[in-house]
Amino acid sequence: MLNFKMTAKKAYIHTFGCQMNMHDSEKMAGILLNEGYTLTDAPQDADLIVFNTCSIRQKAEQKFRSELGRTKSLKKKNPFLRIAVAGCIAQQQGRGIIKNNPQVNYVFGPQNLQRLGDMIRTGESVVLTEDNPEISDSDLPVLRKDGIRAWVSIMYGCNNFCSYCVVPYTRGREKSRPARSIYEEIRKLASAGFKEVTLLGQNVNSYKSEIDFGGLLKQIDAIEGIERIRFVTSHPRDLSEDLMGCIKELPKVCEHIHLPLQSGSSRILKIMNRGYTYEDYMRKADKLIKEIPGIAITTDIITGFPSEAVDDHASTITALRAVEFDGIFAFKFSSRPGTKAAVMDEKVPDFVKSQRLAEILKLQDEITLKKNKALEGTIQEVLIEGASKADKGKITGRTRTNKIVNFSRGNVSPGQIADVRIVKAMRHSLEGSLISKDEDFQ
Ligand code: 5AD
Ligand code: SF4
Repeated sequence: MLNFKMTAKKAYIHTFGCQMNMHDSEKMAGILLNEGYTLTDAPQDADLIVFNTCSIRQKAEQKFRSELGRTKSLKKKNPFLRIAVAGCIAQQQGRGIIKNNPQVNYVFGPQNLQRLGDMIRTGESVVLTEDNPEISDSDLPVLRKDGIRAWVSIMYGCNNFCSYCVVPYTRGREKSRPARSIYEEIRKLASAGFKEVTLLGQNVNSYKSEIDFGGLLKQIDAIEGIERIRFVTSHPRDLSEDLMGCIKELPKVCEHIHLPLQSGSSRILKIMNRGYTYEDYMRKADKLIKEIPGIAITTDIITGFPSEAVDDHASTITALRAVEFDGIFAFKFSSRPGTKAAVMDEKVPDFVKSQRLAEILKLQDEITLKKNKALEGTIQEVLIEGASKADKGKITGRTRTNKIVNFSRGNVSPGQIADVRIVKAMRHSLEGSLISKDEDFQ
């Protein structure tokens, strides 16, 4: 007797870039599961490889190119292997990707990821890069690995056209997802036991549907079971008093804001098309610090933007000292084709960018450590995530200000909120000792 054994097809998803992309990969994984795939960590075992690409800086693009090159030999070994290129590089380069890499079967941008199922069912050489004004991924199945913290898209695209940035070209114009659909998704997450949501958008402060961002936060704050609300990214120009009030007043909204400054020089900010001056930024940062005790502010910095002079760089250093950010992401300016900055004169030499970046990172290391040290002896509310990666005997979680805390296992488990005394602060994490657990969260 013949014995047929059905084995599920396997998909390998490789994600490059930001939280937005990681969440898009969760959506693609959800679609693939519905299509009968299982996920694998081994590209050599896969029937389908999906690259979810990022083009924000050249480095991310280079990493993808070398990974894509490796798939040529995999395809030789397995001619049935399908390869998909998704994300921002797919959006920008479209059919050109297949032309230069004939092993690729599907190319689709972030605005078309909901069509992944149709694509793999219909066959070869599909390229989908048109703008999609419909917000149709609200009901997509999302495969979330973590059962405690979830990303939730609240808006797509960006209208800001910062002169260095590709996002408005790859993710399209800003579109807010209807509040009702966001609310329903989070309500379901709460019923499934999730405790924390991070609302995702390029510029969440300009969220607008039937309600504005403050209104959305108020609605989510009322969802039973959700204990913490975070959001990224805020644009300094659109950070309103109302939003500051929400962070201060709404119990579940965490005291952390990621507020990209980019440069401390108002002249550079102007040619970056950021829409605020250094003084505007400082006024808002001061207000946050004064009105919301203990708030953590993190930021992004670009160093070596075209024409950045010694005094512009010095202004960025001044800004870092003045705000004392809890953490920063700093990048060397990367010229991106199609953006205004790519054709600006007075490019800064790479070794100068590197020097300035090193100076910024060194200073920030000192500031981060100083800020963390100030927490020694304090009691912090920690949402427990699971075993510590560094020390399996310990448990790890995060403060409301998004700092990692490791402490010895007590009678607590993932998903619970516990009070932890901070006993030692390092640059990247805190060491604590458990005081109590909140018995209400079972
Ligand atoms: N070069 C360097 N950094 C960039 N970013 C965006 N575009 C570029 C670029 N061309 C940085 C900004 C942004 C973060 C997500 O990436 O700091 O806030
Ligand atoms: Fe890019 Fe500026 Fe939009 Fe952020 S706000 S995604 S940096 S264009």
